[in-house]
Order: sequence, then C-alpha cells, then structure tokens
Amino acid sequence: MNRYETIRFLLHERPETRTESAEAFAPANIALCKYWGKRDPELNLPATGSLSISLGHLGATTRVSLREGADEIFLNGEPLPDATPFHQRLVEFLNPFRPEADAGFRVDTHNNLPTAAGFATSAAGFAALVLALDRLMGWGLDARTLSILARMGSGSACRSLFHGFVEWHIGKREDGMDSYAEPLPETWPALRMATLTVSNAAKPVGSTEGMNRTRDTSVLYRAWPDKVAADLQALRTAIHTQDFELLGRAAESNAMSLHATMLGAWPPLCYWQPESLAAMHKVWALRAAGVPLYFTMDAGPNLKLLFLQEEQAMVCGHFPGADVIAPFDHA
Ligand code: PMV
Repeated sequence: MNRYETIRFLLHERPETRTESAEAFAPANIALCKYWGKRDPELNLPATGSLSISLGHLGATTRVSLREGADEIFLNGEPLPDATPFHQRLVEFLNPFRPEADAGFRVDTHNNLPTAAGFATSAAGFAALVLALDRLMGWGLDARTLSILARMGSGSACRSLFHGFVEWHIGKREDGMDSYAEPLPETWPALRMATLTVSNAAKPVGSTEGMNRTRDTSVLYRAWPDKVAADLQALRTAIHTQDFELLGRAAESNAMSLHATMLGAWPPLCYWQPESLAAMHKVWALRAAGVPLYFTMDAGPNLKLLFLQEEQAMVCGHFPGADVIAPFDHA
C-alpha cells in the first residue's frame, strides 16, 4: 500500500459528523534520542525508535474548513504560494482526506514558537492538521491512528500528538500500523530547555535528503541503530528515576553521534556553524566547572540547552540570548 491507500484504509467507513470548520493545537517536539533514517520513505517508517519531549504550549494551531476549488493554505496569516514545494507537499498529503475527490481545504496555521528560535515547525503543523481534520469530519479517531496519520506527513509529527515525554515505536510491519508514538507516564516539571539561536537560515539540506545521504554513504551510520538502542534505554531509566545527569548525557551523546554519522557522509553533512561549536565548548567548560548543563541539536546549527529549573538564572547569565522553555508548563 502506498501513502494514499494507507490513509484511505485508516479512514475507511468512519462515521462522519461534519462541522463547518475545526481548530486544533499540537506542541512542537525536540528529540532527546533522534530519528534519522527511514526503512520506508513512502510511509515514513523509521530505521530506529526515538524519544522526544514536547514543548508545552509552544507549537502550531491549525484551522481547517472545506471549500470549493483548490486548496488555500495560510502560514502565520500569509498565503503560501502554490508553486512552493511545501504547498505541493501539503496538497498531496491532503488528497486522501478529501470527502469528495474535487473538495478543497482551507488550512490556516499559526506557530507560536519564539520567532527567532530556528525550530522545525512542520512536526507540530502536521500533528495539528491531522487533529483538526479529525474534528472537521467528526471521525473520532483514536490517538494511535492520529499518530500514524501525522507520521505520514512528517515522521517526527507522530510525536507531536502528545505532551511530555513521547516515544515513537519503530514497529515491524510493512504497512506501518505498529509504528506510532505514545506518551510516557512520567512528568518532570523542573526540566528546562533553552534554545540558543545561531542562525535562522533555512537548512541547506532537508531532513529526508540528509537521512538518505547519511544512510547511503556514511559507514558510521552502521553503528547508529545500536547507539539508539542504548540511548533509548538510558533515557527511559533517566526519566523513570528522574536522574538528570543520565538524561543529559544520553541526549547530548545521542546528538553528537548523530552529527558524527552525518559528518561521515559524502558530500559531508555539517549542520554546525562556528558559533555552534563555540557554544558547545562553553557548555563543556561549564560542565567541567560542575554545572549540570547539557545540550541537544537537530539537523541545524542551533543548540537546545538542557538543565533544571534551579540552574535557570545561571544559564541565562551565561547565555543571554537563550529562550527558556518549561515543557511541562502547559496546564
Ligand atoms: O520528521 P522530519 O522528517 O522533519 O525529521 C526530523 C529529524 C530530526 O529533527 C533531526 C530528529 C527528530 O527525531 O526529530
């Protein structure tokens, strides 16, 4: 089954109670153990599991309604031009959700992430879109199905359906029905993340291309699944026992290993800027001086610092540009 058929299958014979328009919010998420590599690019099935933390009230709010004619897509109040690749990707994603083949959607998405933070917002956007479509059509889909649907928009979107710590199960099935995300029961109110923005420029190489290149050309990628397995286990233990140093170590080591696999690709994938490396050295110097401070990094030059509430004043003193997020502060 391709993506279109899989989504149609999931929506097959769902009772409908359509409304005029519907809105939903989904948080952004940052992986502590990263997803990098697809075993099936059509269905966004991952090569490994991953584990993230959602960013509380920071994310995307999406409103959808049906309209006659072509889709209309707005991002933060601005129309998204038809010719952009992202517009085409969204229209294609929406195709299997149309109640009639010629029905159009109006999609209006607003992100409330700190504008300068350099976040990938597509995960929150696809999760909010799937939730809003479910409300619009009145399907009443369960959380697992919603997570599977969001995964087919953007892999990491399957984790943005939930708050707190979230694990995406690798799954074994070819149709991907066992590859979905689930929240962990634990909370950690004192946990803080701060974004350190080095650059807001668009990524030179997008995640799908970067993953494929790493898998196909980096010999270091062969070790990645074992690294993920070890880090997932350490993170689950750290979260369960509220062991911050174990959490920080596993997350930072996972991110550094991810970037090492990318550096070994050809052409090399180096998402760091000189300022990224300078910030890493600053974190390591502070840690050598006894400060429990760690970081993680995605496929971009910005650092996300990890620390506990009691260190917040000190961290902000050392990194005046940091934007602090309290992930469990979303009640
Ligand atoms: O979901 P995608 O295709 O945007 O890929 C996300 C990749 C990383 O952000 C680098 C890692 C992750 O697990 O979120």
